[in-house]
Amino acid sequence: MSFNINITKVEQSKVDALDFDNIPLGTTFTDHMFICDYENGEWINPRIVPMGLIPTHPAAMALHYGQAIFEGMKAYKDTHGEPMLFRPDQNAKRLNTSADRMGMPHFPEDLFVEGLKELVSLEHNWIPPKDGSALYLRPFMYADEPFIGMRAATHYKFIIMASPAGPFFSKRIKLWAEKQFIRAAHGGTGEAKAAGNYAAAIRPTELAKAKGYDQVLWLDAAEHKYIQEVGTMNIFFKIDGAFITPKLDGSVLDGITRKSVIDVLRNKGLNVIERLITLQEIKEASQNGTLEEAFGAGTAVGIAYIQEIGLEGETIHVSDESPVGLEINNTLDAIKTGKEEDKFGWMLKTRKELA
Ligand code: COI
Repeated sequence: MSFNINITKVEQSKVDALDFDNIPLGTTFTDHMFICDYENGEWINPRIVPMGLIPTHPAAMALHYGQAIFEGMKAYKDTHGEPMLFRPDQNAKRLNTSADRMGMPHFPEDLFVEGLKELVSLEHNWIPPKDGSALYLRPFMYADEPFIGMRAATHYKFIIMASPAGPFFSKRIKLWAEKQFIRAAHGGTGEAKAAGNYAAAIRPTELAKAKGYDQVLWLDAAEHKYIQEVGTMNIFFKIDGAFITPKLDGSVLDGITRKSVIDVLRNKGLNVIERLITLQEIKEASQNGTLEEAFGAGTAVGIAYIQEIGLEGETIHVSDESPVGLEINNTLDAIKTGKEEDKFGWMLKTRKELA
C-alpha cells in the first residue's frame, strides 16, 4: 500500500552542531519526527514535522492509566553510505503484540515501515558513521484521549523519533540478581514492550546501581529462581559449549536482537537451547568451570559482555572474556553495515534524500 505522508521540513538542520565522536546518551534528537493520529477507529494524517513539543491534555489517558508502548531499533549506513534499517518488520509486529496486551489499536505494519523509511531518508546525515554507533529510532504509541475512567482510550498518537547513539557500554558489566522486586509475572505484561514495565524497574535499577551494578537480572515472580531477562536486554549463557537463553514464556521480551543472535549462533553451527534456567544452575556452572561466558543482547546495548552476577551475600563470577559474544557482535555489525553478506535478508534500504 502507498501512503501519503505529508512532510514539513525544518528551515535549518541542527546536525552540524553534533560532535559525532562524542554523542551524549539519549539527549540529542534529530530535526524531524513522524506522527500519526488515531481517531474514529482509524489512523489518519501520517506526517513528518519538525521535532518539537506535542500539546497534551492533563487528562490524557496514557498519563494516568499507562496505555503507552514503544519499540527500539537502529538505522546504520552501509559501505556505500546508504541508510539501512535492521529488521523493521519485526518491530512493527512486536508493537502490535504489545498493543494487543494493552488494549490498544494495531498500527498498520506497512505504514510503520514506510514512516521509518521516510524519516530515516530525511535524517540520513544524522546516522553516525563510526563503528558501534547508529541512529537509534524510537517508535511509540500512547493514549492521548482526555478522559477520567477505566476503559480503552479512543484516541492515540503514534510517533517515531530518532536520536544518534554511540556505544552503550564500554566495559564488561555486572548484574544484580533481584530477589525483592519482580519485573513480570505469568499473565502480566512482561512480553509487551509497555512503558509501565520500565517504570516498575526504575527503583530496583537505581538500588542496584547504588550497589555498584550496571543493570538488574530479573528472576521469576513466583520463586525468584528462574532467570528471565536483564534491564534492557535478553541474556545468553554459554555452559559446556551450549548457548542457553531463557525461553519465551510470556514474561520475557521477545527481543529482536535475541532472535537474531540465535539465528547467527545456529548458522555458525553452535548449539542454542531456549529453556528455563535457574540462577542456581549458573552458580554451579561457575563453580565447576563449565560457565564459559555470558552476554546480554538488546537494541540499545547491542551485545553486552557479563563479568559477574551479584546477589545478597555472594558474587557469581561469570567470565573475564567473551570470545563468542564478540564474534556474534562483529557478525551482526558487519551485516548491519553491509560489510558482510546479509544472508538472512534482514536489512532494508531506505534511500538518501535527493538534495
Ligand atoms: C532498546 O534496547 O531499544 C530498549 O528499548 C531499551 C531501552 C529502555 C533503552
